[in-house]
Amino acid sequence: MPNILLIGNGAREHAMAEAIMRSGKKPFLFSYMKANNPGIAALSVKTKIGGYSDLEAIVLFARENKIEFAVIGPEDPLNNGVVDALTPAGIPAVGPTKSLARLETSKSFTRNLVAKYNIPGNPQFKVFTSLEGVEEFLNSLDGIVLKPDGLTGGKGVLVQGDHFTSRQEALDLCRQILTGSGSLIVEEKFDGEEFSLQCLCDGKTVAGTPLVQDHKRRFDGDRGPNTGGMGSYSFPDHSLPFLKPSDIEEGLEITRQVTAALLKETGSPYKGVMYGGFIATKNGVKLLEYNARFGDPEAMNILPLLKTDFVEICKHIIAGTLDRLKIEFEKKATVCKYVVPKGYGLPAGHPDAASSKAKIEVGDVGKARLYYSSVDKKEDGLYLSSSRAIGIVGIADTLDAARRITAKGVKAVKGPVAYREDIGTDALIQKRIEHMKKIRG
Ligand code: GLY
Repeated sequence: MPNILLIGNGAREHAMAEAIMRSGKKPFLFSYMKANNPGIAALSVKTKIGGYSDLEAIVLFARENKIEFAVIGPEDPLNNGVVDALTPAGIPAVGPTKSLARLETSKSFTRNLVAKYNIPGNPQFKVFTSLEGVEEFLNSLDGIVLKPDGLTGGKGVLVQGDHFTSRQEALDLCRQILTGSGSLIVEEKFDGEEFSLQCLCDGKTVAGTPLVQDHKRRFDGDRGPNTGGMGSYSFPDHSLPFLKPSDIEEGLEITRQVTAALLKETGSPYKGVMYGGFIATKNGVKLLEYNARFGDPEAMNILPLLKTDFVEICKHIIAGTLDRLKIEFEKKATVCKYVVPKGYGLPAGHPDAASSKAKIEVGDVGKARLYYSSVDKKEDGLYLSSSRAIGIVGIADTLDAARRITAKGVKAVKGPVAYREDIGTDALIQKRIEHMKKIRG
Protein backbone atom coordinates (compact mmCIF):
# COMPACT_ATOMS: atom_id res chain seq x y z
CA MET A 1 0.00 0.00 0.00
CA PRO A 2 2.33 2.72 -1.26
CA ASN A 3 2.01 6.42 -0.45
CA ILE A 4 2.10 8.24 -3.79
CA LEU A 5 2.54 11.96 -4.32
CA LEU A 6 0.76 13.55 -7.28
CA ILE A 7 1.76 17.07 -8.25
CA GLY A 8 -0.69 19.10 -10.33
CA ASN A 9 -4.23 20.41 -10.18
CA GLY A 10 -5.77 20.11 -13.65
CA ALA A 11 -8.12 17.70 -15.37
CA ARG A 12 -5.08 15.78 -16.65
CA GLU A 13 -4.00 15.22 -13.05
CA HIS A 14 -7.57 14.32 -12.04
CA ALA A 15 -7.40 11.54 -14.67
CA MET A 16 -3.95 10.56 -13.33
CA ALA A 17 -5.28 10.48 -9.76
CA GLU A 18 -8.11 8.22 -10.89
CA ALA A 19 -5.65 5.90 -12.70
CA ILE A 20 -3.49 5.71 -9.56
CA MET A 21 -6.48 4.96 -7.34
CA ARG A 22 -7.70 2.15 -9.63
CA SER A 23 -4.50 0.27 -8.78
CA GLY A 24 -4.75 -3.14 -7.19
CA LYS A 25 -1.91 -2.06 -4.90
CA LYS A 26 -4.42 0.04 -2.90
CA PRO A 27 -2.25 3.17 -2.80
CA PHE A 28 -2.75 6.21 -0.62
CA LEU A 29 -2.76 9.39 -2.67
CA PHE A 30 -1.17 12.61 -1.42
CA SER A 31 -1.71 15.60 -3.68
CA TYR A 32 0.23 18.82 -3.97
CA MET A 33 -1.79 21.37 -5.92
CA LYS A 34 -1.55 25.01 -6.90
CA ALA A 35 -5.34 25.30 -6.47
CA ASN A 36 -7.82 22.94 -4.90
CA ASN A 37 -9.15 20.53 -7.52
CA PRO A 38 -12.24 18.95 -5.92
CA GLY A 39 -11.90 15.76 -7.97
CA ILE A 40 -8.30 15.15 -6.94
CA ALA A 41 -9.04 16.16 -3.34
CA ALA A 42 -11.84 13.59 -3.15
CA LEU A 43 -9.39 10.83 -4.14
CA SER A 44 -6.59 11.94 -1.80
CA VAL A 45 -5.95 11.13 1.85
CA LYS A 46 -4.18 14.47 2.19
CA THR A 47 -3.74 17.55 0.04
CA LYS A 48 -1.46 20.55 0.23
CA ILE A 49 -1.98 23.80 -1.63
CA GLY A 50 1.16 25.62 -2.69
CA GLY A 51 3.11 27.07 -5.59
CA TYR A 52 5.03 24.85 -8.01
CA SER A 53 8.21 26.83 -7.45
CA ASP A 54 8.15 26.17 -3.69
CA LEU A 55 10.35 23.07 -3.94
CA GLU A 56 11.07 23.10 -0.20
CA ALA A 57 7.35 22.81 0.59
CA ILE A 58 6.94 19.98 -1.93
CA VAL A 59 9.89 17.99 -0.53
CA LEU A 60 8.69 18.59 3.05
CA PHE A 61 5.17 17.39 2.18
CA ALA A 62 6.67 14.30 0.53
CA ARG A 63 8.96 13.55 3.48
CA GLU A 64 6.29 14.08 6.13
CA ASN A 65 4.04 11.63 4.36
CA LYS A 66 6.64 8.92 3.66
CA ILE A 67 6.08 9.10 -0.07
CA GLU A 68 7.36 6.08 -2.03
CA PHE A 69 7.40 7.93 -5.35
CA ALA A 70 6.04 11.07 -6.99
CA VAL A 71 4.17 11.50 -10.27
CA ILE A 72 4.46 14.92 -11.85
CA GLY A 73 1.58 16.19 -13.99
CA PRO A 74 2.35 19.64 -15.45
CA GLU A 75 5.46 21.14 -17.02
CA ASP A 76 5.91 24.02 -14.55
CA PRO A 77 7.19 21.95 -11.59
CA LEU A 78 9.42 19.97 -14.00
CA ASN A 79 10.86 23.22 -15.32
CA ASN A 80 11.43 24.35 -11.73
CA GLY A 81 13.46 21.20 -11.00
CA VAL A 82 11.05 19.36 -8.72
CA VAL A 83 12.49 15.96 -9.69
CA ASP A 84 16.04 17.20 -8.93
CA ALA A 85 14.78 18.35 -5.50
CA LEU A 86 12.96 15.11 -4.65
CA THR A 87 15.81 12.78 -5.71
CA PRO A 88 18.29 13.68 -2.90
CA ALA A 89 15.42 13.19 -0.42
CA GLY A 90 15.25 9.57 -1.63
CA ILE A 91 11.99 10.08 -3.47
CA PRO A 92 12.07 8.91 -7.10
CA ALA A 93 9.70 10.39 -9.64
CA VAL A 94 7.82 9.68 -12.81
CA GLY A 95 8.89 12.81 -14.63
CA PRO A 96 12.19 14.06 -16.02
CA THR A 97 14.81 16.18 -14.29
CA LYS A 98 15.05 19.88 -15.14
CA SER A 99 17.80 19.17 -17.64
CA LEU A 100 15.85 16.42 -19.41
CA ALA A 101 12.62 18.44 -19.31
CA ARG A 102 14.35 20.81 -21.75
CA LEU A 103 12.80 18.47 -24.28
CA GLU A 104 9.69 20.60 -23.69
CA THR A 105 10.99 23.74 -22.02
CA SER A 106 13.57 24.61 -24.69
CA LYS A 107 12.45 24.19 -28.27
CA SER A 108 15.97 25.01 -29.50
CA PHE A 109 17.41 22.22 -27.30
CA THR A 110 15.11 19.66 -28.92
CA ARG A 111 15.60 20.86 -32.49
CA ASN A 112 19.39 20.89 -32.03
CA LEU A 113 19.36 17.45 -30.36
CA VAL A 114 17.33 15.90 -33.19
CA ALA A 115 19.67 17.51 -35.75
CA LYS A 116 22.89 16.54 -33.91
CA TYR A 117 21.92 12.85 -33.70
CA ASN A 118 20.59 12.73 -37.29
CA ILE A 119 17.12 11.76 -36.10
CA PRO A 120 14.44 12.15 -38.77
CA GLY A 121 11.47 14.52 -38.31
CA ASN A 122 12.99 17.98 -38.03
CA PRO A 123 11.80 20.78 -40.31
CA GLN A 124 14.27 23.23 -41.83
CA PHE A 125 14.91 25.48 -38.85
CA LYS A 126 17.25 28.08 -37.40
CA VAL A 127 17.61 29.45 -33.89
CA PHE A 128 18.19 33.20 -33.56
CA THR A 129 19.16 35.39 -30.62
CA SER A 130 19.26 38.56 -32.75
CA LEU A 131 17.61 39.70 -35.98
CA GLU A 132 20.79 39.07 -37.95
CA GLY A 133 20.05 36.62 -40.77
CA VAL A 134 16.35 36.31 -39.90
CA GLU A 135 15.05 38.01 -43.03
CA GLU A 136 17.23 35.90 -45.29
CA PHE A 137 16.03 32.69 -43.67
CA LEU A 138 12.37 33.79 -43.79
CA ASN A 139 12.80 34.42 -47.51
CA SER A 140 14.12 30.88 -48.05
CA LEU A 141 10.98 29.21 -46.62
CA ASP A 142 7.69 28.50 -48.43
CA GLY A 143 5.68 28.56 -45.21
CA ILE A 144 6.81 29.94 -41.86
CA VAL A 145 6.38 28.99 -38.19
CA LEU A 146 7.73 31.20 -35.39
CA LYS A 147 8.33 29.94 -31.86
CA PRO A 148 9.62 31.68 -28.75
CA ASP A 149 12.19 29.47 -27.01
CA GLY A 150 10.45 28.63 -23.76
CA LEU A 151 7.22 27.49 -22.13
CA THR A 152 4.20 29.09 -23.78
CA GLY A 153 1.30 26.98 -22.49
CA GLY A 154 0.68 25.75 -26.03
CA LYS A 155 -0.24 29.24 -27.18
CA GLY A 156 3.03 30.85 -28.27
CA VAL A 157 3.54 29.28 -31.68
CA LEU A 158 2.74 31.59 -34.61
CA VAL A 159 1.86 30.00 -37.94
CA GLN A 160 1.76 31.68 -41.34
CA GLY A 161 -1.79 31.70 -42.66
CA ASP A 162 -3.26 31.52 -39.15
CA HIS A 163 -1.51 34.32 -37.22
CA PHE A 164 0.16 36.35 -39.96
CA THR A 165 0.39 36.38 -43.74
CA SER A 166 3.30 38.36 -45.16
CA ARG A 167 7.07 38.01 -44.62
CA GLN A 168 7.10 41.60 -43.36
CA GLU A 169 4.57 40.66 -40.64
CA ALA A 170 6.73 37.63 -39.81
CA LEU A 171 9.77 39.86 -39.43
CA ASP A 172 7.88 42.24 -37.11
CA LEU A 173 6.76 39.26 -35.00
CA CYS A 174 10.35 37.95 -34.88
CA ARG A 175 11.41 41.32 -33.48
CA GLN A 176 8.66 41.10 -30.81
CA ILE A 177 9.56 37.50 -29.86
CA LEU A 178 13.25 38.36 -29.55
CA THR A 179 12.41 41.31 -27.30
CA GLY A 180 10.17 39.10 -25.15
CA SER A 181 12.04 35.80 -24.88
CA GLY A 182 15.54 36.56 -26.20
CA SER A 183 15.56 33.47 -28.39
CA LEU A 184 13.53 32.61 -31.45
CA ILE A 185 13.13 29.51 -33.60
CA VAL A 186 12.08 30.00 -37.22
CA GLU A 187 10.85 26.82 -38.88
CA GLU A 188 9.43 25.53 -42.12
CA LYS A 189 5.64 25.10 -41.99
CA PHE A 190 4.25 21.64 -42.77
CA ASP A 191 0.92 20.76 -44.36
CA GLY A 192 -0.73 17.69 -42.88
CA GLU A 193 -2.73 16.31 -39.97
CA GLU A 194 -1.47 16.49 -36.42
CA PHE A 195 -1.56 13.68 -33.89
CA SER A 196 -0.46 13.20 -30.29
CA LEU A 197 1.67 10.17 -29.48
CA GLN A 198 2.13 9.96 -25.71
CA CYS A 199 4.89 7.50 -24.86
CA LEU A 200 5.88 6.06 -21.50
CA CYS A 201 9.62 6.00 -21.14
CA ASP A 202 12.07 4.55 -18.59
CA GLY A 203 15.19 5.96 -20.23
CA LYS A 204 15.70 2.97 -22.54
CA THR A 205 12.32 1.53 -23.45
CA VAL A 206 9.57 3.52 -25.15
CA ALA A 207 5.97 2.28 -24.88
CA GLY A 208 3.39 3.93 -27.11
CA THR A 209 -0.19 4.60 -26.02
CA PRO A 210 -3.33 5.06 -28.16
CA LEU A 211 -3.07 7.95 -30.62
CA VAL A 212 -5.16 11.02 -29.99
CA GLN A 213 -6.01 14.13 -31.99
CA ASP A 214 -6.35 17.37 -30.03
CA HIS A 215 -8.21 20.52 -31.15
CA LYS A 216 -6.31 23.68 -30.31
CA ARG A 217 -8.65 26.25 -31.81
CA ARG A 218 -11.33 27.78 -29.65
CA PHE A 219 -14.25 27.48 -32.07
CA ASP A 220 -15.89 24.85 -34.28
CA GLY A 221 -14.33 24.35 -37.69
CA ASP A 222 -10.85 25.01 -36.23
CA ARG A 223 -11.47 28.73 -36.11
CA GLY A 224 -10.50 31.36 -33.55
CA PRO A 225 -7.56 31.72 -31.20
CA ASN A 226 -5.30 28.86 -30.12
CA THR A 227 -6.08 27.44 -26.68
CA GLY A 228 -4.51 24.86 -24.39
CA GLY A 229 -6.79 22.34 -26.19
CA MET A 230 -10.59 22.28 -26.49
CA GLY A 231 -11.00 18.52 -26.76
CA SER A 232 -9.70 15.35 -28.33
CA TYR A 233 -10.73 11.95 -29.61
CA SER A 234 -9.30 8.48 -30.07
CA PHE A 235 -10.40 5.35 -31.95
CA PRO A 236 -10.89 1.75 -30.72
CA ASP A 237 -7.98 0.50 -32.89
CA HIS A 238 -5.69 3.01 -31.11
CA SER A 239 -4.82 4.63 -34.45
CA LEU A 240 -6.49 7.53 -36.29
CA PRO A 241 -8.34 7.03 -39.59
CA PHE A 242 -6.12 9.41 -41.56
CA LEU A 243 -2.88 7.67 -40.54
CA LYS A 244 -1.03 4.68 -42.02
CA PRO A 245 0.60 2.06 -39.75
CA SER A 246 3.96 3.37 -40.99
CA ASP A 247 3.11 6.85 -39.59
CA ILE A 248 2.75 5.41 -36.09
CA GLU A 249 5.98 3.44 -36.47
CA GLU A 250 7.81 6.59 -37.64
CA GLY A 251 6.57 8.55 -34.60
CA LEU A 252 7.64 5.74 -32.28
CA GLU A 253 11.02 5.41 -33.97
CA ILE A 254 11.71 9.15 -33.64
CA THR A 255 10.84 8.91 -29.93
CA ARG A 256 13.09 5.85 -29.45
CA GLN A 257 15.99 7.67 -31.12
CA VAL A 258 15.38 10.82 -29.06
CA THR A 259 15.37 8.72 -25.87
CA ALA A 260 18.77 7.26 -26.78
CA ALA A 261 20.09 10.69 -27.79
CA LEU A 262 18.99 12.21 -24.47
CA LEU A 263 20.87 9.50 -22.57
CA LYS A 264 24.00 10.08 -24.64
CA GLU A 265 23.75 13.85 -24.43
CA THR A 266 23.04 14.20 -20.69
CA GLY A 267 24.20 10.88 -19.22
CA SER A 268 20.83 10.49 -17.47
CA PRO A 269 17.86 8.31 -18.41
CA TYR A 270 14.62 10.10 -19.21
CA LYS A 271 11.92 8.70 -16.92
CA GLY A 272 8.40 9.84 -17.52
CA VAL A 273 6.08 10.68 -20.36
CA MET A 274 7.41 11.78 -23.71
CA TYR A 275 4.50 13.24 -25.60
CA GLY A 276 5.30 13.91 -29.23
CA GLY A 277 3.20 16.34 -31.20
CA PHE A 278 3.62 14.94 -34.71
CA ILE A 279 2.25 15.82 -38.12
CA ALA A 280 1.70 13.35 -40.97
CA THR A 281 2.82 15.00 -44.22
CA LYS A 282 3.31 13.91 -47.82
CA ASN A 283 6.95 13.28 -46.91
CA GLY A 284 6.25 11.18 -43.83
CA VAL A 285 5.93 12.03 -40.17
CA LYS A 286 7.50 15.24 -38.85
CA LEU A 287 8.07 16.36 -35.29
CA LEU A 288 6.28 19.54 -34.22
CA GLU A 289 7.35 19.47 -30.57
CA TYR A 290 7.84 17.28 -27.54
CA ASN A 291 6.19 17.72 -24.16
CA ALA A 292 7.68 16.20 -21.02
CA ARG A 293 4.30 15.14 -19.63
CA PHE A 294 0.90 13.75 -20.62
CA GLY A 295 -1.19 15.93 -22.91
CA ASP A 296 -4.06 17.94 -21.56
CA PRO A 297 -6.71 16.96 -22.70
CA GLU A 298 -5.12 13.84 -24.26
CA ALA A 299 -4.43 12.18 -20.87
CA MET A 300 -8.20 11.98 -20.40
CA ASN A 301 -8.50 9.90 -23.60
CA ILE A 302 -5.94 7.29 -22.72
CA LEU A 303 -5.73 6.88 -18.95
CA PRO A 304 -9.35 5.71 -18.46
CA LEU A 305 -8.65 2.97 -21.05
CA LEU A 306 -5.61 1.62 -19.24
CA LYS A 307 -5.99 -2.08 -18.37
CA THR A 308 -2.49 -2.39 -16.91
CA ASP A 309 -2.06 -1.16 -13.33
CA PHE A 310 -0.82 2.45 -13.54
CA VAL A 311 1.11 2.17 -10.27
CA GLU A 312 2.87 -0.89 -11.69
CA ILE A 313 3.75 1.14 -14.80
CA CYS A 314 5.16 3.96 -12.63
CA LYS A 315 7.29 1.47 -10.67
CA HIS A 316 8.70 0.01 -13.89
CA ILE A 317 9.46 3.49 -15.26
CA ILE A 318 11.40 4.30 -12.09
CA ALA A 319 13.22 0.94 -12.04
CA GLY A 320 14.05 1.13 -15.75
CA THR A 321 12.27 -2.17 -16.45
CA LEU A 322 9.44 -1.08 -18.72
CA ASP A 323 10.55 -3.74 -21.23
CA ARG A 324 9.28 -6.41 -18.80
CA LEU A 325 5.74 -5.03 -18.63
CA LYS A 326 2.94 -5.54 -21.15
CA ILE A 327 0.94 -2.31 -21.27
CA GLU A 328 -2.62 -2.75 -22.50
CA PHE A 329 -5.52 -0.42 -23.21
CA GLU A 330 -9.19 -1.18 -23.77
CA LYS A 331 -10.17 -1.16 -27.44
CA LYS A 332 -12.70 1.65 -27.07
CA ALA A 333 -13.28 5.03 -28.67
CA THR A 334 -13.11 8.21 -26.59
CA VAL A 335 -14.30 11.77 -27.09
CA CYS A 336 -13.17 14.43 -24.63
CA LYS A 337 -14.55 17.96 -24.62
CA TYR A 338 -13.47 20.78 -22.40
CA VAL A 339 -16.20 22.94 -20.92
CA VAL A 340 -14.64 26.40 -20.73
CA PRO A 341 -15.77 29.84 -19.55
CA LYS A 342 -17.49 31.59 -22.48
CA GLY A 343 -14.75 34.20 -22.36
CA TYR A 344 -11.90 31.65 -22.54
CA GLY A 345 -9.31 32.61 -25.15
CA LEU A 346 -11.19 35.76 -26.17
CA PRO A 347 -9.46 39.13 -26.26
CA ALA A 348 -10.00 41.50 -23.32
CA GLY A 349 -12.93 43.79 -23.99
CA HIS A 350 -14.95 41.07 -25.80
CA PRO A 351 -18.50 41.04 -24.34
CA ASP A 352 -18.15 37.36 -23.30
CA ALA A 353 -14.81 37.90 -21.52
CA ALA A 354 -16.79 38.84 -18.38
CA SER A 355 -18.13 35.28 -18.06
CA SER A 356 -15.00 34.10 -16.21
CA LYS A 357 -15.25 33.65 -12.42
CA ALA A 358 -19.02 33.04 -12.61
CA LYS A 359 -20.81 30.31 -10.66
CA ILE A 360 -21.62 27.02 -12.40
CA GLU A 361 -23.84 24.06 -11.55
CA VAL A 362 -22.90 20.51 -12.52
CA GLY A 363 -25.89 18.22 -13.02
CA ASP A 364 -26.03 14.57 -14.04
CA VAL A 365 -23.38 13.88 -16.71
CA GLY A 366 -24.91 10.45 -17.41
CA LYS A 367 -22.41 7.84 -18.60
CA ALA A 368 -19.69 10.45 -19.20
CA ARG A 369 -16.62 10.81 -17.00
CA LEU A 370 -16.00 14.19 -15.45
CA TYR A 371 -12.56 15.60 -14.72
CA TYR A 372 -12.24 18.92 -12.92
CA SER A 373 -9.73 21.46 -14.16
CA SER A 374 -9.67 25.16 -13.26
CA VAL A 375 -12.65 25.45 -10.95
CA ASP A 376 -12.76 27.11 -7.60
CA LYS A 377 -14.76 25.21 -4.98
CA LYS A 378 -16.24 27.66 -2.50
CA GLU A 379 -18.70 27.01 0.33
CA ASP A 380 -21.66 27.94 -1.85
CA GLY A 381 -20.58 25.94 -4.89
CA LEU A 382 -18.31 25.80 -7.92
CA TYR A 383 -16.91 28.85 -9.68
CA LEU A 384 -15.14 29.25 -13.01
CA SER A 385 -11.65 30.67 -13.24
CA SER A 386 -10.26 32.16 -16.42
CA SER A 387 -9.11 28.80 -17.81
CA ARG A 388 -10.58 25.48 -18.97
CA ALA A 389 -13.07 24.31 -16.34
CA ILE A 390 -14.17 20.69 -16.73
CA GLY A 391 -13.20 17.83 -19.05
CA ILE A 392 -16.07 15.57 -20.07
CA VAL A 393 -15.17 12.19 -21.59
CA GLY A 394 -17.38 9.68 -23.37
CA ILE A 395 -16.08 6.14 -23.80
CA ALA A 396 -17.82 3.58 -26.03
CA ASP A 397 -17.32 0.92 -28.70
CA THR A 398 -17.62 3.46 -31.53
CA LEU A 399 -16.59 7.07 -31.89
CA ASP A 400 -20.16 8.13 -32.55
CA ALA A 401 -21.46 6.47 -29.38
CA ALA A 402 -18.63 8.07 -27.37
CA ARG A 403 -19.43 11.47 -28.90
CA ARG A 404 -23.10 11.13 -27.92
CA ILE A 405 -22.16 10.34 -24.31
CA THR A 406 -19.91 13.41 -24.23
CA ALA A 407 -22.57 15.61 -25.88
CA LYS A 408 -25.02 14.69 -23.12
CA GLY A 409 -22.38 15.20 -20.41
CA VAL A 410 -21.35 18.72 -21.44
CA LYS A 411 -24.99 19.84 -21.35
CA ALA A 412 -25.08 19.04 -17.63
CA VAL A 413 -22.71 21.93 -16.88
CA LYS A 414 -24.90 25.01 -16.44
CA GLY A 415 -23.59 28.55 -16.44
CA PRO A 416 -21.82 30.96 -18.80
CA VAL A 417 -19.80 28.18 -20.43
CA ALA A 418 -18.90 27.02 -23.93
CA TYR A 419 -17.53 23.94 -25.67
CA ARG A 420 -16.89 22.78 -29.21
CA GLU A 421 -19.72 20.87 -30.86
CA ASP A 422 -17.70 19.39 -33.72
CA ILE A 423 -15.11 17.27 -31.89
CA GLY A 424 -15.55 13.58 -32.79
CA THR A 425 -18.25 14.22 -35.40
CA ASP A 426 -18.29 12.28 -38.68
CA ALA A 427 -18.02 15.51 -40.66
CA LEU A 428 -14.84 16.54 -38.87
CA ILE A 429 -13.20 13.12 -39.17
CA GLN A 430 -14.10 12.97 -42.87
CA LYS A 431 -12.50 16.39 -43.38
CA ARG A 432 -9.27 15.09 -41.81
CA ILE A 433 -9.31 11.96 -44.01
CA GLU A 434 -9.93 14.00 -47.20
CA HIS A 435 -7.16 16.43 -46.23
CA MET A 436 -4.63 13.62 -45.89
CA LYS A 437 -5.80 11.94 -49.11
CA LYS A 438 -5.26 15.20 -50.99
CA ILE A 439 -1.83 15.71 -49.47
CA ARG A 440 -0.64 12.17 -50.15
CA GLY A 441 -1.98 12.38 -53.74
N1 GLY B 1 -2.72 19.10 -25.85
C1 GLY B 1 -1.80 20.16 -25.73
C2 GLY B 1 -0.87 20.03 -24.60
O1 GLY B 1 -1.06 19.24 -23.70
O2 GLY B 1 0.13 20.74 -24.60
